Amino acid sequence: MNILLLGSGGREHTLAWKLSQSPKLQHLFVAPGNAGTSSIATNLYLNINDFDEVKKAVLNNDIHMVIIGPEDPLVNGIHDYFLQDTALKDIPVIGPEKLAATLEGSKDFAKQFMMRHGIPTAAYQSFTAETLEKGFAFLETLKPPYVLKADGLAAGKGVVILADIEEARAELSHMLLESKFGKASTTVVIEEFLSGIELSCFVLTDGKHYKVLPTAKDYKKIGEGDRGLNTGGMGAISPVPFAEETFMAKVNKQIIVPTIQGLQKDNIPYRGFIFIGLIKVGEDPFVIEYNVRLGDPETEVILPRIKNDLLTVFEAAADQTLDSIDLEIDERSAVTVMTVSGGYPEAYKKGYEIQGLESITDSLVFHAGTTIKDNKILTNGGRVIAVTSFGKDHVEALQKSYRNVEKIGFEGKYYRKDLGFDL
Ligand code: AMP
Ligand code: GLY
Repeated sequence: MNILLLGSGGREHTLAWKLSQSPKLQHLFVAPGNAGTSSIATNLYLNINDFDEVKKAVLNNDIHMVIIGPEDPLVNGIHDYFLQDTALKDIPVIGPEKLAATLEGSKDFAKQFMMRHGIPTAAYQSFTAETLEKGFAFLETLKPPYVLKADGLAAGKGVVILADIEEARAELSHMLLESKFGKASTTVVIEEFLSGIELSCFVLTDGKHYKVLPTAKDYKKIGEGDRGLNTGGMGAISPVPFAEETFMAKVNKQIIVPTIQGLQKDNIPYRGFIFIGLIKVGEDPFVIEYNVRLGDPETEVILPRIKNDLLTVFEAAADQTLDSIDLEIDERSAVTVMTVSGGYPEAYKKGYEIQGLESITDSLVFHAGTTIKDNKILTNGGRVIAVTSFGKDHVEALQKSYRNVEKIGFEGKYYRKDLGFDL
């Protein structure tokens, strides 16, 4: 089969690495990809949110399946575009249609879905500029800290947590009246603060059946001890040690099953990954958010633990025969450590040469923001290279990744040295 994979991060390099092990694969194309994907696939330089361009690439390269990495093409309706096009409608797309992608594209939609189906999540209300005063009144009913969320996609920056009610009122005005997050904050969700430890759970569904993938925990903050600004993710660990059997049984019963059944009851077709952001409060799971894709860098630890041929799994997702698949999971722990550009997640420079990658032989090297120029690998983003290792537990795996991260050299390189500190 010829496959087109959309995206350009560490998640996509990992997907490409896993797909390229399939005996069913003929040719893999990645658009736009990075230096890592260019070594195992053909990169296509196109705008993945211009669906006419994607269509041309699909037809020119005789593509049999399209796999969507990031959320924006999904939220923009790429799957629907394929279904509505006579030349594309029979080419399976792994990633949900626009309606289902609204679970990530609108926090208010996701909250209503959870309420409708009895899925545990923080109490909330939604407000617009017209209901600002009601928003202030709702804040008065909550205990601090106050959680304010822009309804729409805001590049991971749309959630603000404030300890002080005056600040929360000001922030609410800022979001609703001054469009702090553009159109994304036309509606703002205010919710109860939940105190606990976070983890991510991943499900692949064909709309009828589903498979639960390994759990993962990512480290979102730039600074050690989980301090400072949010990033896309500074590293990840799988499995999550505190997600033991009893807890996961609750996650399955209270969250995964009602989510899949809720989609069916609401007539929301879904073929693809569901990423459920969870928080463990005491012994109970609550949903923080849904995403309609795999996480990054969670993918860098989840996929290496799946032993199955990923293309066979995707074919089953496309044919609605996921029930025929038995997932085989590596018992070992996998961790990934992300190296990032100095200054990230604020302003940073690109174009520095990356050295030492070839000397890493006992870890997996996944490229995130990299490009290749004159046979040199250069930094090309905030998150640059993820180093994934296995171990009998996350502590052993981390030692290996840290040893190898030190072999990587580029100007301004930074990484967190304390992953797993909270476990
Ligand atoms: P989200 O974009 O919805 O995942 O939110 C970003 C981050 O804000 C989450 O990863 C949590 O750390 C935090 N957060 C979101 N909602 C809540 C909540 N209700 N209580 C506590 N923390 C939250
Ligand atoms: N690592 C979090 C995310 O992919 O959204």
